[in-house]
Amino acid sequence: LTGCGADKTNQLIVGTNATFPPFEYVGGANGTEIIGFDIDLAKQVAADAGKELVIKDMKFDSLVVALNAGKIDMIAAGMTITEERQANVDFSTPYYEATQLVISHHDVDFSSSEQLKGKKIAVQLGTTGDTMAKDFTTDVSAFNTGFEAVMELANGKVDAVLFDAAPAQNIIAGKPKLKASKVEFTPEYYGFAVAKGDHELLTQINSTLDNMKTDGRYQQLLSQYMK
Ligand code: ARG
Repeated sequence: LTGCGADKTNQLIVGTNATFPPFEYVGGANGTEIIGFDIDLAKQVAADAGKELVIKDMKFDSLVVALNAGKIDMIAAGMTITEERQANVDFSTPYYEATQLVISHHDVDFSSSEQLKGKKIAVQLGTTGDTMAKDFTTDVSAFNTGFEAVMELANGKVDAVLFDAAPAQNIIAGKPKLKASKVEFTPEYYGFAVAKGDHELLTQINSTLDNMKTDGRYQQLLSQYMK
């Protein structure tokens, strides 16, 4: 008997970056819990697998590295399924459709992505917004969180922030000097990521998602978080 020490084989270790409301953020009764839509989905994956859920909060930029180093089993972080990422991880079936928004000062209009050309743009490091911003300008400042990117805008240091729609709306809520505009960006699809070849976990995630979509729990969770 080894005594204390958790039995790692009975845990599902999920990596996230809890700065992305309503998908993953710090909140709850004490304001110290990691909660959100992705976290509830991950909870159900763990329950269905008969495992204990362990959440590891880290920089968004570190998630794929942590997964490939075996430090986490799964990424639940509003992560967009992209070809570049598919070279390094396996994704579940898509579970959410998103798009980027342009956050700007309330009196500046961004109606087309063309207007981003040559502008100063702030983003969260390693996100799809980061990659897209570089298509428009060489002046991209990347931060560890979307909150910091938006702060940079509020402080007048940049012209715009490119960020996923629901978190963007969430972060600018209560900030009347900022607004979020939809330009013609294509949809993105979020997936949970597992290490390449982790067939067992991928099958488990997909079957949990499938069951939750079929019996209405997915929709119920979605409306709980997307108000
Ligand atoms: N969907 C975007 C991406 O994949 C942003 C995700 C950021 N997620 C987070 N938990 N901070 O790059």
